[in-house]
Amino acid sequence: MRKKIVAGNWKMNLSIAEGVQLVKNIINEMPSLQGHQEVVFCTPFTHLSSVANELNQNVNIQVKLGAQNCNDHASGAYTGEISSSMLQEIGVSHVIIGHSERRQLFHESNAFLKSKVDTLVASKMQILFCCGEPLEIREANGQNEYVANQLQESLFHLSAQDFLNQITIAYEPIWAIGTGVTASTAQAQEMHAFIRNLISQQYSESVASEISILYGGSCNAQNASELFANEDVDGGLIGGAALKAETFLPIIKALH
Ligand code: PGA
Repeated sequence: MRKKIVAGNWKMNLSIAEGVQLVKNIINEMPSLQGHQEVVFCTPFTHLSSVANELNQNVNIQVKLGAQNCNDHASGAYTGEISSSMLQEIGVSHVIIGHSERRQLFHESNAFLKSKVDTLVASKMQILFCCGEPLEIREANGQNEYVANQLQESLFHLSAQDFLNQITIAYEPIWAIGTGVTASTAQAQEMHAFIRNLISQQYSESVASEISILYGGSCNAQNASELFANEDVDGGLIGGAALKAETFLPIIKALH
């Protein structure tokens, strides 16, 4: 059975104290997770150690720690950068790669993301790989080709085993991120089914059936249940609504 995951992407928000308190509140009030369910907190780099300490005090091993970025080199003269082994050393298991904000604001190309993917696969870390089209591509009905290209150029060189063991996809249409405009459940399901079909063609039906595909983009307490009820939507990558317990908890509950 493939995993159902809710991951919170805090982006560049919250103080360390606020972040730790948020994690505490969520863990205290969260419903117990079933074996195939996971919650991931993707915090700023500076918060990771403190949140790791908080998670260590908790017995729930299905609550994981994620980073929002990682350098594609193992070590060296890369001022200001953080490597995968540094993240692992403090208990990070997941890394978001290819978020549209990094693609757009920091000019990360598919080829560059491929090298980050390779570094993380070599480190045996879990990759939350984001894909998704801008508004003008959706308006021209080019979203399938656009997303297929993102996956082909950054992920489809992986072996079936590495893909299966280390990749989670997050479909995040750029026009839905932070805008309050959510993809309709039909739009989300259609794209998720398309992505699963691509994986099936590239690898096999059994690999495709085991890959979790999350939805991201203005997913919130009100719409999460309806989105997650779709056959190919296996949870969400949550931005704004991940910053408060009262908005994140109902999204975790929507996994049930
Ligand atoms: P949002 O962000 O939920 O605030 O739209 C999602 C994301 O960027 O991952």
